[in-house]
Amino acid sequence: MKRLRNLGAAAAVLAIAVLALQYGTVSAQKKGKTRSATTKQLMGGLVAAQCGALSKALKAKDIKKATIAAALLNESGHILMADGRCPSGDWAKGAKTLQGCSVVVLAKLKAGDVAGASGAFKALTGGCATCHKAHKGK
Ligand code: HEC
Repeated sequence: MKRLRNLGAAAAVLAIAVLALQYGTVSAQKKGKTRSATTKQLMGGLVAAQCGALSKALKAKDIKKATIAAALLNESGHILMADGRCPSGDWAKGAKTLQGCSVVVLAKLKAGDVAGASGAFKALTGGCATCHKAHKGK
């Protein structure tokens, strides 16, 4: 009888842990803890928008526009890590790639090196893939 009770308690603890894990993961992916912007909104309005703008500006060798887009991509790398949004190591790796590669893009642009900036931009998009593989459509 006592053994059965212990088993029941263990099952209850496990169920709560699984629930907490699921809730934590899902809420962290879709949205942060207190801020309004959902991941989807950040992607559409900020991350993908500035990624497209940067790609276009680099092709046009427009350093001024490319610099603004790269700076906003750098911010987005920080925003994705803020407010309890990060649920995993893959997420962190993707966001940190955005942060780090955008810094290189900015340095290359400052030096007038558009080809170098384009190379760093290509590496930056690897961060999109890292996070999407683990979290998009999940
Ligand atoms: C740290 C994680 C992460 C990084 C980095 C990231 N994304 Fe996303 N992205 C997501 C998640 C999660 C979704 C799915 C959001 C949802 O549907 O709720 C998503 C969705 C999207 C969408 C679909 C938006 C929609 O309206 O359905 C686009 C477009 C997108 N990302 C582009 C990008 C681009 C471009 C980059 C790189 C410059 C990037 N993302 C980097 C996590 C990330």
